[in-house]
Amino acid sequence: MAYNLLKGKRGIITGALDQNSIAWKVAEKAHEEGATFVLTNAPIAMRMGEINTLAEKTGSKIIPADATNVEELTTLFTESQEILGGKIDFVLHSIGMSVNIRKNIPYTESNYDYFMKGIDVSAMSLHKMLSVAKKLDAINEWGSVVALTYMAAQRTYPFYTDMADIKAMLESIARSFGYHYGMEKKVRINTVSQSPTKTTAGSGIKGFGDFYDFADSIAPLGNADAESCADYCITLFSDLTRMVTMQNLFHDGGYSSTGVSTEIMTKLGIQ
Ligand code: NAI
Repeated sequence: MAYNLLKGKRGIITGALDQNSIAWKVAEKAHEEGATFVLTNAPIAMRMGEINTLAEKTGSKIIPADATNVEELTTLFTESQEILGGKIDFVLHSIGMSVNIRKNIPYTESNYDYFMKGIDVSAMSLHKMLSVAKKLDAINEWGSVVALTYMAAQRTYPFYTDMADIKAMLESIARSFGYHYGMEKKVRINTVSQSPTKTTAGSGIKGFGDFYDFADSIAPLGNADAESCADYCITLFSDLTRMVTMQNLFHDGGYSSTGVSTEIMTKLGIQ
Protein backbone atom coordinates (compact mmCIF):
# COMPACT_ATOMS: atom_id res chain seq x y z
CA MET A 1 0.00 0.00 0.00
CA ALA A 2 1.34 3.43 -0.92
CA TYR A 3 0.92 6.55 1.25
CA ASN A 4 2.35 9.23 -1.08
CA LEU A 5 5.08 9.78 1.51
CA LEU A 6 7.56 11.03 -1.08
CA LYS A 7 5.20 12.93 -3.34
CA GLY A 8 7.11 15.68 -5.15
CA LYS A 9 10.48 14.63 -3.74
CA ARG A 10 13.60 14.18 -5.89
CA GLY A 11 16.27 11.64 -5.12
CA ILE A 12 19.46 9.85 -6.06
CA ILE A 13 19.59 6.09 -5.50
CA THR A 14 22.94 4.30 -5.68
CA GLY A 15 23.68 0.58 -5.66
CA ALA A 16 20.83 -1.14 -7.55
CA LEU A 17 22.75 -4.00 -9.17
CA ASP A 18 19.97 -6.56 -9.61
CA GLN A 19 16.53 -7.42 -8.29
CA ASN A 20 17.98 -8.68 -5.02
CA SER A 21 19.77 -5.41 -4.22
CA ILE A 22 18.36 -3.49 -1.28
CA ALA A 23 18.62 -0.34 -3.44
CA TRP A 24 16.42 -1.98 -6.09
CA LYS A 25 13.61 -2.38 -3.55
CA VAL A 26 14.13 1.18 -2.30
CA ALA A 27 13.77 2.45 -5.89
CA GLU A 28 10.55 0.47 -6.41
CA LYS A 29 9.07 1.78 -3.14
CA ALA A 30 10.22 5.36 -3.72
CA HIS A 31 8.48 5.24 -7.09
CA GLU A 32 5.30 3.87 -5.48
CA GLU A 33 5.46 6.69 -2.91
CA GLY A 34 5.52 9.38 -5.59
CA ALA A 35 9.21 10.29 -5.80
CA THR A 36 11.22 10.96 -8.94
CA PHE A 37 14.88 9.97 -8.88
CA VAL A 38 18.06 9.22 -10.74
CA LEU A 39 19.63 5.77 -10.53
CA THR A 40 23.40 5.46 -10.38
CA ASN A 41 26.00 2.73 -10.09
CA ALA A 42 29.65 2.12 -10.93
CA PRO A 43 30.05 2.04 -14.74
CA ILE A 44 31.45 -1.51 -14.50
CA ALA A 45 28.38 -2.73 -12.58
CA MET A 46 26.13 -1.65 -15.43
CA ARG A 47 27.55 -4.06 -17.93
CA MET A 48 24.93 -6.61 -17.00
CA GLY A 49 22.34 -3.99 -17.92
CA GLU A 50 19.77 -5.11 -15.36
CA ILE A 51 19.45 -1.55 -14.07
CA ASN A 52 17.75 -0.60 -17.37
CA THR A 53 14.73 -2.69 -16.39
CA LEU A 54 14.46 -0.79 -13.11
CA ALA A 55 14.89 2.56 -14.87
CA GLU A 56 12.08 1.71 -17.28
CA LYS A 57 9.81 0.49 -14.51
CA THR A 58 10.31 3.62 -12.41
CA GLY A 59 10.62 6.16 -15.23
CA SER A 60 14.13 7.06 -14.10
CA LYS A 61 17.30 8.17 -15.83
CA ILE A 62 20.61 6.46 -15.14
CA ILE A 63 23.85 8.35 -14.54
CA PRO A 64 26.90 6.09 -14.18
CA ALA A 65 29.32 7.22 -11.46
CA ASP A 66 32.13 5.52 -9.61
CA ALA A 67 31.46 6.57 -6.01
CA THR A 68 35.19 6.94 -5.34
CA ASN A 69 35.57 9.55 -8.09
CA VAL A 70 34.80 13.13 -7.03
CA GLU A 71 34.56 14.36 -10.62
CA GLU A 72 31.99 11.70 -11.52
CA LEU A 73 30.05 12.45 -8.33
CA THR A 74 30.03 16.14 -9.25
CA THR A 75 28.54 15.26 -12.63
CA LEU A 76 26.02 13.00 -10.87
CA PHE A 77 24.75 15.72 -8.54
CA THR A 78 24.81 18.44 -11.21
CA GLU A 79 22.99 16.43 -13.88
CA SER A 80 20.52 14.92 -11.41
CA GLN A 81 19.28 18.40 -10.50
CA GLU A 82 18.93 19.25 -14.20
CA ILE A 83 17.05 16.04 -14.98
CA LEU A 84 14.78 16.21 -11.93
CA GLY A 85 14.20 19.95 -12.16
CA GLY A 86 15.50 21.11 -8.79
CA LYS A 87 17.48 20.32 -5.68
CA ILE A 88 17.66 16.80 -4.27
CA ASP A 89 15.53 15.73 -1.29
CA PHE A 90 16.94 12.29 -0.59
CA VAL A 91 20.02 10.17 -1.29
CA LEU A 92 20.50 6.45 -0.71
CA HIS A 93 24.10 5.27 -0.24
CA SER A 94 23.89 1.52 -0.82
CA ILE A 95 27.48 0.71 -1.74
CA GLY A 96 29.71 -1.96 -0.27
CA MET A 97 32.67 -3.95 -1.51
CA SER A 98 35.69 -5.56 0.16
CA VAL A 99 38.38 -7.18 -1.96
CA ASN A 100 39.72 -8.91 1.16
CA ILE A 101 36.33 -10.60 1.62
CA ARG A 102 36.04 -11.41 -2.08
CA LYS A 103 39.45 -13.08 -2.02
CA ASN A 104 38.75 -14.87 1.26
CA ILE A 105 41.70 -13.26 3.01
CA PRO A 106 41.59 -13.68 6.82
CA TYR A 107 41.25 -10.43 8.80
CA THR A 108 44.63 -10.70 10.52
CA GLU A 109 46.34 -11.08 7.14
CA SER A 110 44.43 -8.27 5.38
CA ASN A 111 46.01 -6.94 2.21
CA TYR A 112 46.36 -3.18 2.78
CA ASP A 113 45.84 -2.13 -0.83
CA TYR A 114 42.57 -4.05 -0.76
CA PHE A 115 41.76 -2.59 2.66
CA MET A 116 42.27 0.95 1.31
CA LYS A 117 40.11 0.14 -1.70
CA GLY A 118 37.36 -1.12 0.61
CA ILE A 119 37.51 2.08 2.67
CA ASP A 120 37.38 4.25 -0.43
CA VAL A 121 34.46 2.42 -2.03
CA SER A 122 32.36 1.64 1.02
CA ALA A 123 32.96 4.49 3.51
CA MET A 124 34.87 7.43 2.08
CA SER A 125 32.43 7.45 -0.84
CA LEU A 126 29.76 8.71 1.58
CA HIS A 127 32.02 11.57 2.61
CA LYS A 128 32.79 12.35 -1.03
CA MET A 129 29.11 12.36 -1.98
CA LEU A 130 28.17 14.63 0.90
CA SER A 131 31.07 16.96 0.27
CA VAL A 132 30.19 17.28 -3.42
CA ALA A 133 26.51 17.82 -2.60
CA LYS A 134 27.33 20.46 0.01
CA LYS A 135 29.71 22.31 -2.30
CA LEU A 136 27.09 22.40 -5.04
CA ASP A 137 24.35 23.16 -2.49
CA ALA A 138 22.52 20.33 -4.21
CA ILE A 139 20.38 19.06 -1.31
CA ASN A 140 17.25 20.86 -0.12
CA GLU A 141 16.84 21.92 3.51
CA TRP A 142 15.44 18.99 5.53
CA GLY A 143 16.77 16.64 2.85
CA SER A 144 17.64 13.13 4.03
CA VAL A 145 20.65 10.92 3.32
CA VAL A 146 20.63 7.24 4.33
CA ALA A 147 23.59 4.84 4.14
CA LEU A 148 23.31 1.10 4.73
CA THR A 149 25.52 -0.55 7.31
CA TYR A 150 25.92 -3.70 9.38
CA MET A 151 26.23 -4.42 13.10
CA ALA A 152 29.79 -5.73 12.73
CA ALA A 153 30.65 -2.04 13.27
CA GLN A 154 29.77 -2.53 16.96
CA ARG A 155 30.34 -6.25 17.61
CA THR A 156 32.82 -8.68 16.14
CA TYR A 157 31.79 -11.07 13.40
CA PRO A 158 35.07 -12.74 12.35
CA PHE A 159 34.00 -13.47 8.76
CA TYR A 160 33.12 -9.81 8.12
CA THR A 161 36.88 -9.01 8.24
CA ASP A 162 37.86 -5.48 7.14
CA MET A 163 34.27 -4.50 6.34
CA ALA A 164 33.63 -4.30 10.11
CA ASP A 165 36.15 -1.47 10.44
CA ILE A 166 34.94 0.11 7.22
CA LYS A 167 31.31 0.14 8.39
CA ALA A 168 32.43 1.71 11.69
CA MET A 169 33.99 4.49 9.62
CA LEU A 170 30.86 4.83 7.49
CA GLU A 171 28.71 5.25 10.60
CA SER A 172 31.14 7.79 12.01
CA ILE A 173 31.07 9.82 8.78
CA ALA A 174 27.27 9.90 8.98
CA ARG A 175 27.51 11.37 12.49
CA SER A 176 30.34 13.81 11.78
CA PHE A 177 28.98 15.10 8.47
CA GLY A 178 25.47 15.01 9.94
CA TYR A 179 26.54 17.63 12.46
CA HIS A 180 27.99 20.05 9.89
CA TYR A 181 25.34 19.57 7.21
CA GLY A 182 22.62 19.75 9.85
CA MET A 183 23.95 23.00 11.31
CA GLU A 184 24.32 24.68 7.95
CA LYS A 185 21.48 23.31 5.85
CA LYS A 186 19.29 21.14 8.08
CA VAL A 187 20.23 18.14 5.95
CA ARG A 188 19.96 14.94 7.96
CA ILE A 189 22.18 11.89 7.67
CA ASN A 190 21.54 8.45 9.17
CA THR A 191 22.76 4.90 8.78
CA VAL A 192 20.43 1.91 8.74
CA SER A 193 21.98 -1.22 10.21
CA GLN A 194 20.31 -4.02 8.31
CA SER A 195 19.89 -7.77 8.98
CA PRO A 196 21.86 -10.22 6.84
CA THR A 197 20.12 -10.08 3.46
CA LYS A 198 20.43 -12.40 0.47
CA THR A 199 22.02 -10.09 -2.11
CA THR A 200 25.17 -10.21 -4.24
CA ALA A 201 27.21 -8.32 -1.59
CA GLY A 202 25.73 -10.35 1.29
CA SER A 203 26.13 -13.77 -0.29
CA GLY A 204 29.77 -12.99 -1.15
CA ILE A 205 30.64 -13.37 2.53
CA LYS A 206 32.01 -16.76 3.54
CA GLY A 207 29.51 -18.79 5.60
CA PHE A 208 26.76 -16.24 4.88
CA GLY A 209 24.02 -18.90 4.55
CA ASP A 210 24.68 -20.41 7.99
CA PHE A 211 24.99 -17.01 9.56
CA TYR A 212 21.76 -15.86 7.95
CA ASP A 213 19.97 -18.81 9.62
CA PHE A 214 21.67 -18.10 12.96
CA ALA A 215 20.56 -14.44 12.97
CA ASP A 216 17.07 -15.50 11.91
CA SER A 217 16.87 -17.83 14.91
CA ILE A 218 18.00 -15.11 17.32
CA ALA A 219 15.84 -12.20 16.16
CA PRO A 220 12.35 -12.30 17.74
CA LEU A 221 10.84 -11.05 14.48
CA GLY A 222 13.28 -12.98 12.27
CA ASN A 223 15.65 -11.34 9.81
CA ALA A 224 14.40 -8.17 8.15
CA ASP A 225 14.28 -8.64 4.38
CA ALA A 226 15.29 -6.18 1.67
CA GLU A 227 11.74 -5.07 1.10
CA SER A 228 11.13 -4.10 4.72
CA CYS A 229 14.50 -2.36 4.74
CA ALA A 230 13.28 -0.34 1.77
CA ASP A 231 10.10 0.56 3.68
CA TYR A 232 12.21 1.82 6.57
CA CYS A 233 14.42 3.89 4.24
CA ILE A 234 11.29 5.48 2.75
CA THR A 235 10.16 6.61 6.20
CA LEU A 236 13.58 8.17 6.74
CA PHE A 237 13.34 10.02 3.43
CA SER A 238 9.88 11.27 4.35
CA ASP A 239 8.97 14.37 6.37
CA LEU A 240 7.63 12.15 9.16
CA THR A 241 11.17 11.64 10.49
CA ARG A 242 12.48 15.16 9.98
CA MET A 243 14.06 15.45 13.44
CA VAL A 244 16.03 12.20 13.11
CA THR A 245 19.69 12.70 12.22
CA MET A 246 23.21 11.41 13.04
CA GLN A 247 21.75 8.06 14.15
CA ASN A 248 22.69 4.48 13.51
CA LEU A 249 19.29 2.80 13.35
CA PHE A 250 18.99 -0.96 13.70
CA HIS A 251 16.61 -2.61 11.29
CA ASP A 252 17.07 -6.22 12.28
CA GLY A 253 13.90 -7.74 13.77
CA GLY A 254 15.26 -7.18 17.31
CA TYR A 255 18.49 -9.13 16.75
CA SER A 256 20.82 -6.46 18.17
CA SER A 257 18.96 -6.37 21.51
CA THR A 258 18.67 -10.13 21.95
CA GLY A 259 21.32 -12.06 23.90
CA VAL A 260 20.04 -15.54 23.15
CA SER A 261 16.77 -17.09 21.99
CA THR A 262 15.10 -20.31 23.07
CA GLU A 263 15.20 -21.40 19.42
CA ILE A 264 19.00 -21.26 19.38
CA MET A 265 19.20 -23.01 22.79
CA THR A 266 17.00 -25.80 21.44
CA LYS A 267 19.13 -26.08 18.28
CA LEU A 268 22.23 -26.39 20.44
CA GLY A 269 20.49 -29.10 22.52
CA ILE A 270 20.71 -26.97 25.70
CA GLN A 271 16.98 -26.65 26.29
P1 NAI B 1 24.51 -5.35 -3.79
O1 NAI B 1 25.70 -6.15 -4.19
O2 NAI B 1 23.26 -5.56 -4.53
O3 NAI B 1 24.87 -3.79 -3.75
C1 NAI B 1 26.17 -3.27 -3.58
C2 NAI B 1 26.32 -2.19 -4.62
O4 NAI B 1 27.54 -1.44 -4.49
C3 NAI B 1 26.32 -2.76 -6.06
O5 NAI B 1 25.26 -2.20 -6.80
C4 NAI B 1 27.67 -2.33 -6.59
O6 NAI B 1 27.69 -2.14 -7.99
C5 NAI B 1 27.88 -1.04 -5.81
N1 NAI B 1 29.26 -0.56 -5.91
C6 NAI B 1 30.41 -1.28 -5.69
N2 NAI B 1 31.48 -0.51 -5.96
C7 NAI B 1 31.01 0.72 -6.34
C8 NAI B 1 31.63 1.93 -6.74
N3 NAI B 1 32.96 2.06 -6.80
N4 NAI B 1 30.85 2.99 -7.09
C9 NAI B 1 29.49 2.89 -7.04
N5 NAI B 1 28.85 1.75 -6.66
C10 NAI B 1 29.60 0.68 -6.32
O7 NAI B 1 24.29 -5.73 -2.24
P2 NAI B 1 23.39 -5.11 -1.06
O8 NAI B 1 23.36 -6.15 -0.01
O9 NAI B 1 22.13 -4.58 -1.61
O10 NAI B 1 24.32 -3.94 -0.51
C11 NAI B 1 23.89 -2.62 -0.34
C12 NAI B 1 24.43 -2.07 0.98
O11 NAI B 1 23.80 -2.75 2.07
C13 NAI B 1 25.93 -2.22 1.19
O12 NAI B 1 26.45 -1.07 1.81
C14 NAI B 1 25.99 -3.41 2.13
O13 NAI B 1 27.18 -3.44 2.88
C15 NAI B 1 24.79 -3.10 3.01
N6 NAI B 1 24.33 -4.21 3.84
C16 NAI B 1 24.07 -5.43 3.28
C17 NAI B 1 23.71 -6.50 4.06
C18 NAI B 1 23.49 -7.84 3.46
O14 NAI B 1 23.50 -8.83 4.21
N7 NAI B 1 23.31 -7.95 2.17
C19 NAI B 1 23.52 -6.35 5.53
C20 NAI B 1 23.77 -5.01 6.01
C21 NAI B 1 24.16 -3.99 5.19
